[in-house]
Amino acid sequence: MSAPAAAPAAGSPPTKHPRHLLDLADWSTAPIHALFDTTDVMAQVMTRTIKKVPALQGFTVGTMFFEDSTRTRLSFERAARAQSADVISFAAGGSSLAKGESLKDTIKTIDAMKADLYVVRHPAAGAPRQLTRWTDAIIVNAGDGRRAHPTQALLDAYTFKTRFPAFAGFEGVKLAIVGDVAHSRVARSNVELWTKLGAQVTLCGPRTLLPDELGATPGVTLTHHIEEAVEGAHAVMALRLQRERMASGLLPSLAEYRQRYQVTRALLRLAHPEAIVMHPGPMNRDLEIEGVLADDPRSVVEAQVANGVPVRMAVLYTLLVGSR
Ligand code: CP
Repeated sequence: MSAPAAAPAAGSPPTKHPRHLLDLADWSTAPIHALFDTTDVMAQVMTRTIKKVPALQGFTVGTMFFEDSTRTRLSFERAARAQSADVISFAAGGSSLAKGESLKDTIKTIDAMKADLYVVRHPAAGAPRQLTRWTDAIIVNAGDGRRAHPTQALLDAYTFKTRFPAFAGFEGVKLAIVGDVAHSRVARSNVELWTKLGAQVTLCGPRTLLPDELGATPGVTLTHHIEEAVEGAHAVMALRLQRERMASGLLPSLAEYRQRYQVTRALLRLAHPEAIVMHPGPMNRDLEIEGVLADDPRSVVEAQVANGVPVRMAVLYTLLVGSR
């Protein structure tokens, strides 16, 4: 792979990006579209018999997960190795954190092993930004509390783009996000990204799971009625009901939640005729999403997971060598 990222055309907007990927607030649209272009190249690599290129040979990527993950951790590690980077992995379970080591001492310890970039998931909002003060390495946020999960939003938008090429510019697109918005970093990052790209986002859920302040973002509408959210939507994203983050009393009953907010095949009749159904995973089948809909041709849940690899390849490549 001699030139993974296409050279910008003369007169095109500058594609300079921030040094870290902590959230998408400080990423303008030009580097985001450039990242999607690089993802196209990486996706092509993943179709080859030998799914490996030397692009990141000599670099070391550290994955630091202070919270459980399947998709994000595995796909970042796959993305690093597919570009010939070395990978060191840290998971909080079984580490010296259990013996009382602080977050600062943990990053200093891992940093002594000389990684160039850390992928960090932490239950505390702001932890990845804090780490930028304690290491010279590049930091990529893999999910911090309920604040942000930028690579999930990037892979969601990329998946939409590949399924709806006519709307690849996102102008006029309607995304409905349904469920436990209050606890969702995925919802917050998708709001940040899709509105920046020009889409309209409708957030839907019960009063207790739909914070009013999210309605203050231009391009965002809030509703408690799922039919209103899904009407005309090009993409409907069901969010996991995060029972582990929820104080008791936020919902009268799971049965009522299922009846009022489950994304179903019947509801999709209200959406755009070619609408797709998304879920960031992990799914509670037959709770926030009808089980059979998750396996329906309109569901892109598996494509989201598959696209996580080339999107994260593009993120690693862009941050480590793309703009040097
Ligand atoms: N979507 C997502 O972040 O999944 P994991 O928790 O499995 O990484």
